[in-house]
Amino acid sequence: MKTRLLVVGYGRMAEAMLRGFAIHAPKLESYALQITGRNPEKIRSFLERLPLAVEILPPTPILDIDHATVLLAIKPYALESFEYKGVASLVLSVLAGVSVGKLAKCLKSDAYARCMPNIASSYALSSTTLYAPCAVPIKARARALLECLGAVVEVSSEQLIDASLATNGSALAFLGMMAQGLVNAGVREGLSHDQAVMLVAQSFKGFTQLLQEKAPQEIIDSICTPGGATIAGLSVLEEKAFKGIIMRACHAVVKKGRTP
Ligand SMILES: NC(=O)c1ccc[n+]([C@@H]2O[C@H](COP(=O)([O-])OP(=O)(O)OC[C@H]3O[C@@H](n4cnc5c(N)ncnc54)[C@H](OP(=O)(O)O)[C@@H]3O)[C@@H](O)[C@H]2O)c1
Repeated sequence: MKTRLLVVGYGRMAEAMLRGFAIHAPKLESYALQITGRNPEKIRSFLERLPLAVEILPPTPILDIDHATVLLAIKPYALESFEYKGVASLVLSVLAGVSVGKLAKCLKSDAYARCMPNIASSYALSSTTLYAPCAVPIKARARALLECLGAVVEVSSEQLIDASLATNGSALAFLGMMAQGLVNAGVREGLSHDQAVMLVAQSFKGFTQLLQEKAPQEIIDSICTPGGATIAGLSVLEEKAFKGIIMRACHAVVKKGRTP
């Protein structure tokens, strides 16, 4: 008999994860996927195009979680909008700032785990942290689900889930800012917008590949000719404490999203 995988919530993160699951559909053969929330009809047209069978449950304030693996993907404040009936086998939460203790107060389950994926889950390219203070087989189950979304890094405390909010949760927004700056720069220097977007997108693709083999500093060093153009640009970034600004921005994210 299949285990229910009950996704609660149908926003951007839930959609990204479902896309990732669809890519790895054969790995989910032991699950019957269901989705619920306060108005799950909102996700119907998305699901009709998804090559993965997901049953939409009728909206109800009382969610039956008995024996299910529950994937929580609602806003953190929405956790208490529902009552939860029964005892889940695993609650896996993507909610930022909601502790295992808080989850345990709201939903009964044999095991709890928290994770921090990002929206690259859509392409099974998320970097996801996992905190799973539970028995090895259940932790393996949580990990296997998240591996459908990309790479998984296990961490040993909830504080490290908070820490990863910046390095993989919000990181894509920061990289988006960098990419937009480069596009604007290209247009400023005379490239068309489309040319600049294409060049920047391909540069990010190439950078991703380089990063598999080289440390960031090695990549920088391999581009900077002594006395050349790139080091002239880098010196401007250093004058403005570019890395310091990034670290401060990441710290602001972590402070804001910290688990109470
Ligand atoms: N987006 C990311 O990159 C990212 C990364 C890591 C973790 N997360 C976590 O993922 C979770 C969802 O984020 P998201 O970006 O997917 O947000 P989103 O697109 O705004 O979706 C939010 C979901 O929560 C539901 N919801 C909101 N208020 C509710 C309420 N009062 N009662 C019941 N349901 C309610 C929404 O349903 P309605 O449409 O009916 O309001 C929707 O299903 C958050 O907890 C966030 O911390 C997000």
